[in-house]
Amino acid sequence: MDKKVVVTGCSGFIGFHLSNSLLEADIQVIGIDSLNSAYDVKLKQKRLEKLDKNNNFTFFNYNLSQEDSLNEIKKYDISTIYHMAARAGVRQSFLDPQSYIEDNTYATANVVNFCKEIEIPEIILASTSSIYGDSGENLMVEEKDEKIKPPSVYASTKLSGESLSKIILEDTNTNLIISRFFTVYGPYGRPDMSILRFIHWIINEEKVKVFGNGEQQRSFTYIKDVVDALRRMSGLENSHTFNVGSNITVSLNEVIKLIEEFTGKNANIENLERAYKDPDVVRPNLEKINEAIGWEPTTEIQEGIEKTVSWYKENEDYLKDLVYVNE
Ligand SMILES: NC(=O)c1ccc[n+]([C@@H]2O[C@H](COP(=O)([O-])OP(=O)(O)OC[C@H]3O[C@@H](n4cnc5c(N)ncnc54)[C@H](O)[C@@H]3O)[C@@H](O)[C@H]2O)c1
Repeated sequence: MDKKVVVTGCSGFIGFHLSNSLLEADIQVIGIDSLNSAYDVKLKQKRLEKLDKNNNFTFFNYNLSQEDSLNEIKKYDISTIYHMAARAGVRQSFLDPQSYIEDNTYATANVVNFCKEIEIPEIILASTSSIYGDSGENLMVEEKDEKIKPPSVYASTKLSGESLSKIILEDTNTNLIISRFFTVYGPYGRPDMSILRFIHWIINEEKVKVFGNGEQQRSFTYIKDVVDALRRMSGLENSHTFNVGSNITVSLNEVIKLIEEFTGKNANIENLERAYKDPDVVRPNLEKINEAIGWEPTTEIQEGIEKTVSWYKENEDYLKDLVYVNE
């Protein structure tokens, strides 16, 4: 039986690009997604339609927060699980904590228990820089983990996923690679995140809503670089925790300027009060990932924004009608 790679959250932004990359390398992919309504499901369906065209792709619509949701795929010979499924977004997590606990804490525990039960060699788990909160810039991973105090419901549920995975997989034959992503952007990105919302609002000449004065810096990381990191993580001999992000930070105002440049339109900015305290600067330390898998991001923000704007323009027919909610 051919070995298969499982990608949970395959209809989501990162899971979709990762699945595409695996399929392009002729790897057989089992994609799992609940197609939840955390943001406009039409975009998830568009991503899924693209994946479904490949004969090496098999899709299961499962909700991983249900304990036995993975029973049906026990029969496959699985080499790796990429667990990308989650409910993401900080703001929304304060309004709907229960869904975050179900989709992040329960679902991760279920996926990891499944790895343990059928002895899957490795799981690569998506985590987030949001867990660092205000704990500073240039962060090391692991060495400073005891200082982490997640500042949101979202971050708490993601950190609980990390902790449960470590405990459940202790003394098993499953390798655990935790990948803490910083702000990821690019084509097929999430309509609840700043870059896609800004592009949509600027192109359609709508008000560009910015929380705070827009001077907050983010480690914007292009999706292609993130997929490259995820692919390189497979096959490592030991468990690791890595930061996956750009160490060059850019402010929201700079991002808006670039979008103005590539769309040829002016942004009509409306500055709103920041509803919660998100850190001003979040910058990763990349020593560990660089040493272990030789990874560093290579896409500059200008190139990444240009490509994302082009993708929006090419797909404007359906993108202009999506619902763009706040992160
Ligand atoms: N995009 C970013 O900037 C970013 C940054 C840090 C961390 N992350 C993490 O990376 C991962 C992927 O993020 P994304 O941006 O692709 O998000 P996304 O919301 O686009 O994708 C997540 C997918 O998981 C699915 N899902 C959610 N709960 C599920 C469940 N219980 N069962 C099955 N499927 C379920 C959703 O339907 C969605 O399609 C997440 O774990 C997220 O926490 C993302």
